[in-house]
Amino acid sequence: LKALKTSAIGRKVKMIESTVSTQEEARMLAEEGAPEGTLVIAEEQTGGKGRMGRKWYSPKGKGIWMSLVLRPEQPMHYMPQLTLLTGVAVCRAVRKVSSVEAGLKWPNDLLVNGRKICGILLESAAEDEYVRYCIAGIGISVNLDPEDYPEELAGVATSLKIESGEQVERATLIASVLEEFENLYGLYQQEGFGPIASLWEALSVTLGKPVTVNTARGLVEGTAAKLDQTGALLMDIGDGQLVPIFSGDVELRR
Ligand code: BTN
Repeated sequence: LKALKTSAIGRKVKMIESTVSTQEEARMLAEEGAPEGTLVIAEEQTGGKGRMGRKWYSPKGKGIWMSLVLRPEQPMHYMPQLTLLTGVAVCRAVRKVSSVEAGLKWPNDLLVNGRKICGILLESAAEDEYVRYCIAGIGISVNLDPEDYPEELAGVATSLKIESGEQVERATLIASVLEEFENLYGLYQQEGFGPIASLWEALSVTLGKPVTVNTARGLVEGTAAKLDQTGALLMDIGDGQLVPIFSGDVELRR
Protein backbone atom coordinates (compact mmCIF):
# COMPACT_ATOMS: atom_id res chain seq x y z
CA LEU A 1 0.00 0.00 0.00
CA LYS A 2 3.02 2.25 -0.40
CA ALA A 3 1.50 4.30 -3.21
CA LEU A 4 -1.73 5.02 -1.31
CA LYS A 5 -2.90 8.57 -1.99
CA THR A 6 -5.42 9.01 0.86
CA SER A 7 -5.03 11.29 3.87
CA ALA A 8 -7.06 9.44 6.53
CA ILE A 9 -8.56 6.26 5.11
CA GLY A 10 -6.09 3.37 5.39
CA ARG A 11 -3.34 5.52 6.88
CA LYS A 12 -3.09 3.13 9.83
CA VAL A 13 -3.11 -0.51 8.76
CA LYS A 14 -3.00 -3.71 10.77
CA MET A 15 -2.16 -6.76 8.66
CA ILE A 16 -2.96 -10.19 10.04
CA GLU A 17 -2.13 -13.64 8.64
CA SER A 18 -5.18 -15.40 10.00
CA THR A 19 -8.11 -14.28 12.14
CA VAL A 20 -11.69 -15.31 12.79
CA SER A 21 -13.04 -12.07 11.34
CA THR A 22 -11.50 -8.68 10.60
CA GLN A 23 -14.79 -7.18 11.87
CA GLU A 24 -13.93 -8.30 15.40
CA GLU A 25 -10.30 -7.13 15.11
CA ALA A 26 -11.46 -3.70 13.92
CA ARG A 27 -14.10 -3.52 16.62
CA MET A 28 -11.44 -4.07 19.31
CA LEU A 29 -9.26 -1.33 17.81
CA ALA A 30 -12.26 1.01 17.64
CA GLU A 31 -13.07 0.32 21.30
CA GLU A 32 -9.45 1.19 22.13
CA GLY A 33 -9.90 4.54 20.38
CA ALA A 34 -8.41 3.84 16.94
CA PRO A 35 -8.85 6.88 14.67
CA GLU A 36 -11.19 7.04 11.70
CA GLY A 37 -9.69 5.32 8.69
CA THR A 38 -7.89 2.57 10.63
CA LEU A 39 -7.85 -0.55 8.48
CA VAL A 40 -7.53 -4.24 9.32
CA ILE A 41 -6.62 -6.65 6.52
CA ALA A 42 -6.32 -10.43 6.85
CA GLU A 43 -4.86 -13.02 4.51
CA GLU A 44 -7.44 -15.49 5.75
CA GLN A 45 -10.59 -15.46 7.89
CA THR A 46 -11.65 -18.64 9.63
CA GLY A 47 -15.08 -17.28 10.58
CA GLY A 48 -15.80 -14.56 8.03
CA LYS A 49 -19.24 -13.03 8.59
CA GLY A 50 -21.85 -12.08 6.03
CA ARG A 51 -25.14 -10.23 6.33
CA MET A 52 -28.07 -11.82 8.13
CA GLY A 53 -25.92 -14.25 10.08
CA ARG A 54 -24.46 -15.89 6.96
CA LYS A 55 -20.85 -17.04 6.59
CA TRP A 56 -18.36 -15.38 4.30
CA TYR A 57 -15.92 -17.72 2.61
CA SER A 58 -12.44 -16.15 2.96
CA PRO A 59 -9.66 -18.52 1.82
CA LYS A 60 -6.00 -17.69 2.35
CA GLY A 61 -4.36 -15.24 -0.02
CA LYS A 62 -7.19 -15.34 -2.56
CA GLY A 63 -9.15 -12.24 -1.71
CA ILE A 64 -9.38 -8.93 0.04
CA TRP A 65 -10.84 -9.40 3.50
CA MET A 66 -10.75 -6.08 5.29
CA SER A 67 -12.55 -3.82 7.77
CA LEU A 68 -12.41 -0.08 8.10
CA VAL A 69 -13.06 1.89 11.30
CA LEU A 70 -15.29 4.93 10.68
CA ARG A 71 -16.46 7.62 13.04
CA PRO A 72 -19.19 9.54 11.24
CA GLU A 73 -20.89 12.10 13.48
CA GLN A 74 -24.40 11.02 12.57
CA PRO A 75 -27.59 9.58 13.96
CA MET A 76 -27.83 5.82 13.48
CA HIS A 77 -30.58 6.02 10.87
CA TYR A 78 -28.09 7.38 8.31
CA MET A 79 -26.10 4.16 8.35
CA PRO A 80 -27.78 2.59 5.28
CA GLN A 81 -26.42 5.50 3.26
CA LEU A 82 -22.87 4.61 4.30
CA THR A 83 -23.46 1.04 3.21
CA LEU A 84 -24.48 2.22 -0.24
CA LEU A 85 -21.52 4.61 -0.37
CA THR A 86 -19.14 1.73 0.37
CA GLY A 87 -20.68 -0.29 -2.45
CA VAL A 88 -20.15 2.57 -4.89
CA ALA A 89 -16.51 2.89 -3.81
CA VAL A 90 -15.79 -0.80 -4.36
CA CYS A 91 -17.66 -0.89 -7.67
CA ARG A 92 -15.73 2.09 -9.04
CA ALA A 93 -12.42 0.62 -7.87
CA VAL A 94 -13.13 -2.78 -9.46
CA ARG A 95 -14.01 -1.11 -12.76
CA LYS A 96 -10.87 1.01 -12.63
CA VAL A 97 -8.41 -1.76 -11.79
CA SER A 98 -9.84 -4.59 -13.91
CA SER A 99 -11.76 -5.04 -17.14
CA VAL A 100 -14.69 -6.43 -15.17
CA GLU A 101 -18.05 -4.60 -15.51
CA ALA A 102 -19.27 -5.04 -11.97
CA GLY A 103 -22.68 -3.67 -10.95
CA LEU A 104 -24.52 -3.08 -7.68
CA LYS A 105 -27.48 -4.98 -6.31
CA TRP A 106 -29.33 -3.27 -3.47
CA PRO A 107 -28.23 -2.77 -0.83
CA ASN A 108 -24.60 -3.55 -1.40
CA ASP A 109 -23.70 -6.70 -3.31
CA LEU A 110 -21.35 -6.37 -6.22
CA LEU A 111 -22.36 -8.66 -9.08
CA VAL A 112 -20.73 -9.68 -12.32
CA ASN A 113 -22.89 -11.55 -14.83
CA GLY A 114 -25.40 -12.21 -12.06
CA ARG A 115 -22.83 -13.71 -9.69
CA LYS A 116 -21.55 -12.22 -6.48
CA ILE A 117 -17.97 -10.96 -6.41
CA CYS A 118 -18.02 -8.76 -3.30
CA GLY A 119 -20.02 -8.37 -0.12
CA ILE A 120 -20.20 -5.48 2.31
CA LEU A 121 -21.16 -5.60 5.97
CA LEU A 122 -21.55 -2.45 8.07
CA GLU A 123 -21.81 -2.86 11.80
CA SER A 124 -22.05 -0.02 14.24
CA ALA A 125 -22.02 0.80 17.91
CA ALA A 126 -24.42 3.48 19.08
CA GLU A 127 -24.84 5.81 21.99
CA ASP A 128 -28.07 7.77 22.39
CA GLU A 129 -29.08 7.03 18.78
CA TYR A 130 -25.76 8.43 17.53
CA VAL A 131 -23.00 6.43 15.86
CA ARG A 132 -20.08 5.88 18.23
CA TYR A 133 -18.14 4.05 15.54
CA CYS A 134 -18.90 1.95 12.53
CA ILE A 135 -16.98 -0.98 11.05
CA ALA A 136 -17.23 -1.24 7.27
CA GLY A 137 -16.34 -4.79 6.26
CA ILE A 138 -15.45 -5.44 2.64
CA GLY A 139 -14.89 -8.88 1.15
CA ILE A 140 -13.76 -9.08 -2.47
CA SER A 141 -13.17 -12.43 -4.15
CA VAL A 142 -10.08 -11.56 -6.17
CA ASN A 143 -7.99 -14.52 -7.27
CA LEU A 144 -10.18 -17.53 -6.52
CA ASP A 145 -10.32 -20.22 -9.19
CA PRO A 146 -13.53 -22.18 -9.86
CA GLU A 147 -12.16 -25.19 -7.94
CA ASP A 148 -11.58 -23.03 -4.84
CA TYR A 149 -15.30 -22.66 -4.21
CA PRO A 150 -17.25 -25.05 -2.02
CA GLU A 151 -20.18 -26.71 -3.77
CA GLU A 152 -22.85 -24.44 -2.29
CA LEU A 153 -21.21 -21.36 -3.83
CA ALA A 154 -20.71 -22.77 -7.32
CA GLY A 155 -22.87 -20.79 -9.74
CA VAL A 156 -23.65 -18.16 -7.11
CA ALA A 157 -20.23 -16.63 -6.49
CA THR A 158 -17.42 -15.63 -8.80
CA SER A 159 -14.06 -13.86 -8.65
CA LEU A 160 -12.25 -11.13 -10.52
CA LYS A 161 -9.80 -13.69 -11.88
CA ILE A 162 -12.57 -15.97 -13.14
CA GLU A 163 -14.36 -13.04 -14.82
CA SER A 164 -11.32 -11.32 -16.31
CA GLY A 165 -9.07 -14.32 -16.94
CA GLU A 166 -6.22 -12.51 -15.23
CA GLN A 167 -4.62 -12.45 -11.84
CA VAL A 168 -5.38 -9.12 -10.11
CA GLU A 169 -2.82 -7.46 -7.83
CA ARG A 170 -4.56 -7.15 -4.46
CA ALA A 171 -2.56 -4.15 -3.19
CA THR A 172 -3.52 -2.11 -6.26
CA LEU A 173 -7.20 -2.86 -5.76
CA ILE A 174 -7.06 -2.14 -2.01
CA ALA A 175 -5.44 1.25 -2.67
CA SER A 176 -8.06 2.04 -5.29
CA VAL A 177 -10.96 1.09 -2.98
CA LEU A 178 -9.55 3.28 -0.20
CA GLU A 179 -9.04 6.24 -2.54
CA GLU A 180 -12.53 5.95 -3.99
CA PHE A 181 -13.94 5.60 -0.49
CA GLU A 182 -12.16 8.67 0.82
CA ASN A 183 -13.33 10.82 -2.10
CA LEU A 184 -16.95 9.69 -1.80
CA TYR A 185 -16.94 10.02 1.99
CA GLY A 186 -15.71 13.59 1.63
CA LEU A 187 -18.38 14.34 -0.96
CA TYR A 188 -21.01 12.78 1.31
CA GLN A 189 -19.95 14.90 4.29
CA GLN A 190 -20.06 18.07 2.21
CA GLU A 191 -23.10 17.54 0.04
CA GLY A 192 -25.11 14.82 1.71
CA PHE A 193 -26.51 11.64 0.21
CA GLY A 194 -27.90 13.08 -3.05
CA PRO A 195 -24.76 12.75 -5.21
CA ILE A 196 -23.96 9.31 -3.74
CA ALA A 197 -27.49 8.08 -4.54
CA SER A 198 -27.08 9.21 -8.18
CA LEU A 199 -23.75 7.40 -8.49
CA TRP A 200 -25.25 4.29 -6.91
CA GLU A 201 -28.23 4.35 -9.27
CA ALA A 202 -25.97 4.67 -12.31
CA LEU A 203 -24.01 1.55 -11.27
CA SER A 204 -27.04 -0.51 -10.30
CA VAL A 205 -27.91 -3.71 -12.14
CA THR A 206 -31.33 -4.08 -10.49
CA LEU A 207 -33.08 -0.75 -11.04
CA GLY A 208 -35.84 -0.85 -13.61
CA LYS A 209 -35.97 -4.65 -13.40
CA PRO A 210 -38.64 -6.96 -12.02
CA VAL A 211 -37.48 -8.19 -8.63
CA THR A 212 -38.69 -10.08 -5.61
CA VAL A 213 -37.53 -8.80 -2.23
CA ASN A 214 -37.42 -11.11 0.72
CA THR A 215 -38.10 -8.99 3.81
CA ALA A 216 -38.80 -9.80 7.44
CA ARG A 217 -42.47 -9.01 6.68
CA GLY A 218 -42.64 -11.33 3.68
CA LEU A 219 -42.07 -11.21 -0.07
CA VAL A 220 -42.54 -8.01 -2.05
CA GLU A 221 -42.83 -8.27 -5.83
CA GLY A 222 -42.48 -5.35 -8.19
CA THR A 223 -40.01 -3.25 -10.09
CA ALA A 224 -36.97 -1.81 -8.33
CA ALA A 225 -37.60 1.88 -9.07
CA LYS A 226 -35.02 4.04 -7.31
CA LEU A 227 -33.48 5.00 -3.97
CA ASP A 228 -35.18 7.39 -1.60
CA GLN A 229 -33.25 10.02 0.35
CA THR A 230 -32.58 7.64 3.25
CA GLY A 231 -31.07 4.94 1.03
CA ALA A 232 -34.13 2.69 1.12
CA LEU A 233 -35.09 0.90 -2.11
CA LEU A 234 -38.37 2.15 -3.57
CA MET A 235 -40.32 -0.68 -5.15
CA ASP A 236 -43.02 -0.01 -7.69
CA ILE A 237 -45.67 -2.57 -6.79
CA GLY A 238 -48.09 -1.52 -9.53
CA ASP A 239 -50.32 1.51 -10.21
CA GLY A 240 -47.26 3.69 -9.55
CA GLN A 241 -47.41 2.82 -5.86
CA LEU A 242 -43.93 3.09 -4.35
CA VAL A 243 -43.08 1.04 -1.27
CA PRO A 244 -39.82 1.63 0.62
CA ILE A 245 -37.71 -1.41 1.53
CA PHE A 246 -35.32 -0.83 4.43
CA SER A 247 -33.81 -4.27 4.65
CA GLY A 248 -34.08 -7.48 2.70
CA ASP A 249 -32.66 -9.63 -0.07
CA VAL A 250 -33.31 -8.66 -3.66
CA GLU A 251 -33.66 -11.33 -6.33
CA LEU A 252 -34.02 -10.63 -10.04
CA ARG A 253 -37.07 -12.29 -11.57
CA ARG A 254 -36.89 -13.74 -15.05
C1 BTN B 1 -22.36 -10.14 2.74
O1 BTN B 1 -22.42 -10.04 1.51
O2 BTN B 1 -23.15 -10.85 3.34
C2 BTN B 1 -21.30 -9.36 3.47
C3 BTN B 1 -19.95 -10.02 3.44
C4 BTN B 1 -18.87 -9.23 4.16
C5 BTN B 1 -17.55 -9.94 4.20
C6 BTN B 1 -16.45 -9.09 4.77
S1 BTN B 1 -14.85 -9.83 4.58
C7 BTN B 1 -14.14 -8.67 5.67
C8 BTN B 1 -15.13 -8.46 6.78
N1 BTN B 1 -14.95 -9.45 7.83
C9 BTN B 1 -16.00 -10.27 7.95
O3 BTN B 1 -16.08 -11.21 8.76
N2 BTN B 1 -16.94 -9.92 7.06
C10 BTN B 1 -16.55 -8.77 6.25
